[in-house]
Amino acid sequence: RLREGIDIPDWFTYPEIAAELRRTHPPRHRQGFTVFFTGLSGAGKSTLANALMVKLMETGGRPVTLLDGDIVRTHLSSELGFSREHRDLNVRRIGFVASEITKNGGVAICAPIAPYAATRRQVREMIEPVGGFVEVHVATPLDVCEERDRKGLYAKARAGLIKGFTGIDDPYESPVDPELRVDTSGLLPEQSIQRVLLKLEAMGFIA
Ligand code: PPS
Repeated sequence: RLREGIDIPDWFTYPEIAAELRRTHPPRHRQGFTVFFTGLSGAGKSTLANALMVKLMETGGRPVTLLDGDIVRTHLSSELGFSREHRDLNVRRIGFVASEITKNGGVAICAPIAPYAATRRQVREMIEPVGGFVEVHVATPLDVCEERDRKGLYAKARAGLIKGFTGIDDPYESPVDPELRVDTSGLLPEQSIQRVLLKLEAMGFIA
């Protein structure tokens, strides 16, 4: 028979219960977690994700895995396009890999556009039961992303050469209640990454 509400045999003594709870519920700074960056193309997701990976690797501790949009689309989702169905499948695959990493005590850093709120919620629901989930909305405004146009894709989308481009003729549903929002316009990359690190610290995931 189990004690009500917790998965511990009835005959456990209190010191044993304390020890078991420490084992099954490690403190946050020892749990795995996922940082899930979401935002428009050119918002700065990859820059932030890469910088965060370097910072977390420097401080040591848990293994860090980067699941950047481009990397995933090359190696995990190469057959997918940009329809709603394909984007959702892509984002759920990222969520699944991140949940496995998180479950095993690692850090997963994800950086897809992930334009649909319902799909981001599914990812959150996959990960929260096995560790931490920190959604970071990289909220750089569309006009700034378009101005940057690092890959020249906005110009192509405006010219009608790319159809269904996020922010132009395809939706981006802004997160309503992310753990953190960072608008990178007017901030140095170092300042943006500092905000992410402070949030992770405040949430107890890093010391
Ligand atoms: S999604 O929606 O989460 O599945 O997108 P993601 O896997 O992150 O891929 C986004 C990158 O693909 C390029 N690209 C497009 N983006 C948006 N809409 C359309 N139609 C599109 N076609 C190609 C674009 O370079 C995105 O890269 P980032 O790094 O976000 O700029």
